Amino acid sequence: MLRGKFYFVILPVVTLGVCSVIVIGGPTSEALVSKVASDLGVEAGKLEVRRFPDGEKYLRVLSDVHGQDVAVIQSIHHTPDELLFEYLLLADTLKDLGAKRVSAFIPYFAYARQDERFKPGEVLSFKTVCKLIESVGTDEIYTIDMHQHRVVRSSDVFRIPSHNLSAMPLIADYIQKLGKLRNPLVIGPDAEAEQWAELAAERLHTDYDVFLKTRLGDAKVEIRPRKSDANGRDVLIVDDIISTGGTIVEAVKILREQGAKRIQVACTHPILAPGALERIREVRVEDVIGTDTVPSPISVVTVAPLIADEVRKSHN
Ligand code: R5P
Repeated sequence: MLRGKFYFVILPVVTLGVCSVIVIGGPTSEALVSKVASDLGVEAGKLEVRRFPDGEKYLRVLSDVHGQDVAVIQSIHHTPDELLFEYLLLADTLKDLGAKRVSAFIPYFAYARQDERFKPGEVLSFKTVCKLIESVGTDEIYTIDMHQHRVVRSSDVFRIPSHNLSAMPLIADYIQKLGKLRNPLVIGPDAEAEQWAELAAERLHTDYDVFLKTRLGDAKVEIRPRKSDANGRDVLIVDDIISTGGTIVEAVKILREQGAKRIQVACTHPILAPGALERIREVRVEDVIGTDTVPSPISVVTVAPLIADEVRKSHN
């Protein structure tokens, strides 16, 4: 007999012109799936997810997906092994049930940071995860502000069409609406954050710079300024991920030394390891905000419109 927790997940069906699309996601992406459904103005269906007594996962797709395009929204955060496996089971099942095309929307893509063999014998997790996602018949993949450092384009790793979207314009709009910063300097805390600092600055019609960062350990970084001077300026720090908060804390310290006025902090993926928010609040910033690619106490910006737009564009 099957026992365990039952989850019912919203599974909307979109009809766009002659083509219909089913949008589905696992339990931890339920809120995002609901928001995308509401943005698309569609009805919701159901997916059953539970565990067998021995801990194995059981999934059942309750809608008829035969011949349909399906968009799977599955953010892979906090319990990445479990959520990745859930995605693999779901996508494989959808294909097996006759889904015509499966588009993966993975707002937070775990394992992207291990994209290089830093020490001999290490795993290349990013590459392995990409291979697994392809192996279950995923036809195309969408990510949001994926951590692409050594691998510059996801198309260098994926053989299926891949699209890396950015939440930075949505974040910048939110910051603008808050209206607390005057002509802010946008700062990326490391060289790789230039792409996000540039996008946010463009949207806010202001200037940007990046700091230089050396990682000394999992939770320890050293940051040095490059050329900008924040003296007398309001500052917006933007990054893809806040994990331990160490990067942001060090960046704030430099900005304070330079004489910055108000400082706001924004990221796309608030992973927030234990103690991260407290650490950042100790250095007294105005606000710390993130998006709902990862549900958290600071996930005030939703990426639902970004996903809904792509679902509309790719399935009409
Ligand atoms: C790394 O290069 C990323 O872009 C982030 O800066 C990093 O993941 C943040 O980690 P933490 O909050 O632990 O410093």
